[in-house]
Parts: sequence; C-alpha cells; structure tokens
Amino acid sequence: MSNYHIKHLEEYYQIYRKSIREPENFWEEVAEEHFVWRKKWDKVLSWDFSKPEIKWFEGAKLNITENCIDRHLVTRGNKTAILFEPNNPDEPAEHISYNELHERVNQMANVLKDHGIKKGDRVCIYVPMIPELAISILACARIGAIHSVVFAGFSSTALSTRINDSDCKMVIAADGSYRGAKTIDLKGIVDEALESCPGVESVLMVKRINSDIKMKKGRDKWLQPLLDEASTQCPAEIMDAEDPLFILYTSGSTGKPKGMVHTTAGYMVYTAYSFKNAFQYRENDVYWCTADIGWITGHSYIVYGPLANGATTVLFEGIPSYPDFGRFWDIIDKHKVNQFYTAPTAIRALAKQGSELVEKFDLSSIKVLGSVGEPINEEAWHWYNDNIGKNKSPIIDTWWQTETGAIMITPIPYVTPTKPTYATLPFIGVQPAIVNEAGEELKGNQVEGRLCIKFPWPSMARTIWRDHKRYKETYFSTVKNMYFTGDGALRDEVGYYRITGRVDDVIIVSGHNLGTAPIEDAINEHPAVAESAIVGFPHEIKGTALYGYVTLKDAGEGRIHDNVRKEINQLITERIGPIAKLDKIQFTQGLPKTRSGKIMRRILRKIAERDTSNLGDISTLLNPECVQDIIDEAL
Ligand code: WTA
Repeated sequence: MSNYHIKHLEEYYQIYRKSIREPENFWEEVAEEHFVWRKKWDKVLSWDFSKPEIKWFEGAKLNITENCIDRHLVTRGNKTAILFEPNNPDEPAEHISYNELHERVNQMANVLKDHGIKKGDRVCIYVPMIPELAISILACARIGAIHSVVFAGFSSTALSTRINDSDCKMVIAADGSYRGAKTIDLKGIVDEALESCPGVESVLMVKRINSDIKMKKGRDKWLQPLLDEASTQCPAEIMDAEDPLFILYTSGSTGKPKGMVHTTAGYMVYTAYSFKNAFQYRENDVYWCTADIGWITGHSYIVYGPLANGATTVLFEGIPSYPDFGRFWDIIDKHKVNQFYTAPTAIRALAKQGSELVEKFDLSSIKVLGSVGEPINEEAWHWYNDNIGKNKSPIIDTWWQTETGAIMITPIPYVTPTKPTYATLPFIGVQPAIVNEAGEELKGNQVEGRLCIKFPWPSMARTIWRDHKRYKETYFSTVKNMYFTGDGALRDEVGYYRITGRVDDVIIVSGHNLGTAPIEDAINEHPAVAESAIVGFPHEIKGTALYGYVTLKDAGEGRIHDNVRKEINQLITERIGPIAKLDKIQFTQGLPKTRSGKIMRRILRKIAERDTSNLGDISTLLNPECVQDIIDEAL
C-alpha cells in the first residue's frame, strides 16, 4: 500500500535510526512541519534522569486547542471532528464538525472563566462518554486550566481522593450515564464525594439521563443554560511548552493513586505524530477507539491525537453487549470505520459469542486493527485477525502506559510483519532496554528481563502531582539513568518485543490497572478481617482476575463467610469501584510471610493459579507451615 506515510520496513528503520541518532533534529523537524506555534522553542530537549527533569521544546509558546481545532477550520471546518454514537442505537448519531466543535469548546471555556477558572487551576471532569466530556477537556486546555478526568465508573471515595489530591476548584459532572439497558446515577456519587472536598467551589452539571437530582444551592448549576448564553469566541491562552496540560491518576504500589502530570508541547507533538503513523491515518478515514476517555488511551487516541491530525474520531457511549454482542460490528458498518482500536478483554468477550454476529455486518472498511491495555493472548489475536481483520488488516499490538502518554512499542501497519502476542518494534524515537535484576542492560537479542526506556521521548509524564520524590522513586530509582516501566519483557531473535506482564504490585484486570494496596486497604476495613493479600489469576475474559486471601480475626463458620464475602466486595465497590471486585475469596488461617514480615505474593499467586508443583524454597519463611494449609483449603 504505497500511499501510506511509512511505506516499507526499510523506511521505518531509516526514520527510526535518524530519530535515535539525532533525536533533537528529528523532533524539531516534526514540530516545525506539523503544528502551529505562537513562538518557536529555544531548545528542543534538556534532560537529566537523575533528578529527574525533562523538558521538550523549552521556550515555545502555543495552545494545543489551536492545533486540535482552530487551524483546521479553513480546510476542514465542515468535516466531522467528533462522531458521537449514543448508547441507544435508535438515537441518531451526532456529527460534530470542526466548526461546531470550535464554537462549543469556546462556549464552555467562557463558562469556566465566568466561574473564576484561570490558567493553572485544576478542574475535575466526571462525565461519561458523551461529547461534553471531550468538550470539557478541550475547554480547560483552551484557557490553560489543568484537567483531571476521573473515569465515571469510579466510586465516591476514589473521586474525592483525586479531587483533593490536586485541589480541584471545580467539578464538571453529569446527572447520570447510560450503560446498556441500565442508567447509572452519577450526581449521587458526586454529592457523596464532595462531602469531603471543601476546596470545590462550583459544580457544573451536564444533563444526560434527565433524572430528578438535587442541586446544592450556590454550588451546583446546570451547564446548558450557561452555554446557551456564552459567546462562541474565546481567545486561546498562550501556554509555555512545559505548562501542565492535564493530570491523570493511575494506580501504584501504595494506596494513594499517582497523579501523572503531562505537559503541553511534547505531549501534543508525540501523540499527534504517533496517531498518524501508528494507525497510518489518512485524510477522510473514520477512526474509532473504544476506550473510555477516563483513561489515557482516550485522552491521547480519542481526543488529542486524532484532533491534532484533523481526523474524524468516533466517541461511543455504550457497551459492546448492548443491545446485543453485535454492536461494535454494527457501528463499524454504519460509520464505515477504517481504524478500530480496542482492548483484549473486549475481544475475548466478543470472541466467546462466536462469529455469526460478526457475519451480519460489512466490515470491509477496516484497514487497521489495534489492541491496547494488556497482553493479547494468542487465541484472541487469531480470532480478531480472522473474523474482524479477515486476514488482511494488520493488528497493531500497542504497548504503552499512562506515564508514557502515547504508544511506545507497536508494529507499523502494512510495514512491520506482525507476530501474535508481540508488540514488535519500538515506535520512532523510543529507545527500550531490557535490564536484569542487577540493573544491567542486556544487550543483543533473545534476552528477557525488565523493560526500561533509556532516552526521553516527548510525551513522557514529567512528574507526579506535588510528589516529585515518588516520581523519582517509582520510575527512576530501580535502574540508574533509565525510566523503569514496571513491566517485564523479552526481545526475541529478530529484536521483537513481547510484554510478559507487570513485575510490581499492579494487576491488570480487563485492561484496567489496579494496585493491590488500595484493594487490600478496603478489605481490611471490614471489622471481621485481620489481614488480606490480593493476587491475580488467569481469567477467560478479563485476562487476569483478582483472588483475595483473607484472614479473619475470629475464624467463623461457613455461613458467616458468605456474608463476609459479600461485604468485602461491597466495601471494594464503595472505596474503588466495581472493576476492583474479587472473583475469588479464600479465607485462610495465615498468610505466608518473610522474616521481615512481607507477604510472599509469589507463593499465593502460584496457589491461585493452581500450580503448586514448584513453590520454590519456603523454608526461609516466618511461617512455612501455613503454605500447606492454604493449598489444602484451595483444592
Ligand atoms: C499494560 C494503557 C501488554 C502494561 C495504555 C502497562 C500492555 C499497563 C499493553 C499500562 C500491550 C498496556 N501489551 N501489556 N499492548 N498495553 N499494557 O497506564 O502492563 O492504563 O504497563 O495504560 O498496561 O496501563 P495504563
């Protein structure tokens, strides 16, 4: 396919080599060619991983919304920017043109300003997958406010923790959301959260489900009447390259979520460039990423990356199983989607339904298929390839993280030969390294270890909000002078990368990052619980599901156990959200510990996987005798 941006493997290698040999020249050319700047940079890159301090395009002035919206108005004003597909298939899709997006973002930006929001203020956005979510994000960026989107499936506790951590002055929320046949009350969750958020001055409410909600006087306002009154013109705030654009929270190995801070210019340049090349996106393609904008995938590859390229990006409110499991294929057919980007957990759930539902639809528009969020297993890969890609559309298995901001390892479609379960080659500008336990880089091929990145790339997170120490400790202290990803990986005989999974206390369930610590904290709040430990175990649809070992203060009867089981999952739902519920709970007398008191999750993981043949040396444990008990109980 000769009219793609990158045409063959040799061209990829040429561009890649240039990006590594002369990173500053390379990114400078990309920045010059593809974006509009109010002022160009003084220096392309300065960095020091020991501090760590990373700056891209220092001295440059810009506004990302001028790049995502304004500059397209002359040539693409009437082109669809956001194609909104509602939850209910009978509700018509909405085509929001670049002209209309411009007006709506400006109106929203003016409303924010009228409510005292200015450059640098934090605004929390708790809105489901409707156009107002993308518009709120862009409105913040328009006036230089820092958005912090919280996934609208998180509990009130998770919401208030995030609001308080970054001192948000305002919350933009919705009355509720549609999820298949269900409606979910969001305002109730917001009200509960705000009981412990004294810093929030105003709440702007989007009306979506028309539920009867209570508005708190002086604090809550309906958004629509304010938008109707607002001017459609709002000058863009001129931002410095390294001004924060947004905060997005991700789980870590302690109970407190990490507010990853992404800045303006580098994030824009790299997400836009990677969108264009990793998807080989061309003008007039219709692109669809099924992620929620509440996660990084939605930030970078529903909103910023596509819009910076003047693309048409589909925003889908619903779920893959409503009204039936054919919904994704129906939408692809209806809107003639060219690039389709989803998660392995969705692929597995859909594959389970067989292929009859797929065959009812015309999927011939598809050119590129993407996968993200967790390792894609071989079976799911083949199903996706055979049934959706019809063996002709390449699958790009894209590895990246909230922290990396954008895709880091991926095949280039129609260029890099794919290999099931392999993310294959580094994206342009990315320098991965495999490192052993001693922190030494393993050079050459056929090596396995921890995945690190040796050199800065423009979209990397710059810090953790108000906790630079934790940023340094988490990412730059494991291996000297490298960014440590927390993932394990291998490099095969031709240099292809395969991600083997997390090597820290994060577990990926249905593509969502969950830290073990906050879940254990929630369980331990139960008055009957003495102690708990969470591990992952293989699950047909979720990839990995959660297995909890719980010791009780008073080992009770079986009957009591069933109640405690329910109550534990209720607590988890309240503190974190339903995505963190445990699939299995095993009550046990004791947890295996090292002499320093650390729970040996490795052993618990093996038992959860029902693989007890090789537990390693357990004689050094503080309480080796408990291991056999746990095995006996499990089996
Ligand atoms: C995992 C999502 C294997 C990985 C963009 C990473 C993957 C974590 C892949 C980040 C992939 C993501 N293959 N594993 N293609 N993509 N992961 O921050 O463990 O939500 O560290 O970002 O997901 O999850 P996050």
